[in-house]
Amino acid sequence: MDLDLTGKHALVCGGSVGIGRAAAIELALLGADVTVLARHEAALREVADALPRPGDAQRHGWLVADGNDIAALRQQVAALAAQRPLQILVNNSGGPPGGRAIDADASQYLAAFQQHLLANQSLAQCVVPGMQAAGWGRIINVVSTSVKEPIANLGVSNSIRGAVASWAKTLSRELGGDGITVNNVLPGYTLTRRLQQILDDRVASSGDSADQVSARMLASVPAGRFADAREVAAAIAFLASPAAAYINGVSLAVDGGRMQSI
Ligand SMILES: NC(=O)c1ccc[n+]([C@@H]2O[C@H](COP(=O)([O-])OP(=O)(O)OC[C@H]3O[C@@H](n4cnc5c(N)ncnc54)[C@H](OP(=O)(O)O)[C@@H]3O)[C@@H](O)[C@H]2O)c1
Repeated sequence: MDLDLTGKHALVCGGSVGIGRAAAIELALLGADVTVLARHEAALREVADALPRPGDAQRHGWLVADGNDIAALRQQVAALAAQRPLQILVNNSGGPPGGRAIDADASQYLAAFQQHLLANQSLAQCVVPGMQAAGWGRIINVVSTSVKEPIANLGVSNSIRGAVASWAKTLSRELGGDGITVNNVLPGYTLTRRLQQILDDRVASSGDSADQVSARMLASVPAGRFADAREVAAAIAFLASPAAAYINGVSLAVDGGRMQSI
């Protein structure tokens, strides 16, 4: 199986911690040059410096940018792509705050739409021309199982994730003929700071203890445990690889079997 990413340049958004950081490591292990993007420079620098370099010529870097400032993001990533064309884009960012859909106001929906869908779209527009010129590209969006089964008390997130999944499916059909694949990875409960945020929200809204909330969540997972971020990252890295060339337009759950839909 061809998993070799030597000579490929990957941009991993949300690459400073959690699933993004784990994906950056897996892609680097497969030989890619990786640029990690997020809002805080110190964390990014630390990750980029520590990324594996199994190939002597591998060069990793970082980009400080904010998915909520679309104009600046577009400018920064266009400049990066002009300097070193990108063949792999991992769209990934922080999840929207919790709460019921009915209680959220327009500004919360607009902020999440911007940070997720519009940021992804802007980044795709920056990198797709280079991918088309090379006849090879991978766009992988880290979304959520909520695109298939909405999750209680994540109203804004459920709504925006659905839009991202539909956008990605549309893009996969538009770009498939150019040698570019567009796929989604849907993480289940994964041990990161986002999961802690969800646990804290549920403790606050239910009045139950963290142990009780955590036990209830685990009871819904056939694997009986939360995921390690590396398990989600492995799926991202596989979809980025040459071996996955004929996989296009899918939403791959990495959820320990939690989703009940087929
Ligand atoms: N963990 C789970 O159980 C789980 C389950 C389903 C779906 N997901 C989704 O998967 C994605 C990644 O999850 P995670 O658990 O790895 O999240 P995380 O640990 O919270 O990491 C989020 C990453 O995104 C960056 N980020 C946040 N806001 C940003 C912004 N406005 N602009 C640029 N970068 C930004 C963060 O760095 P800075 O803060 O420095 O910018 C960080 O690198 C999220 O969308 C999450 O909702 C997670």
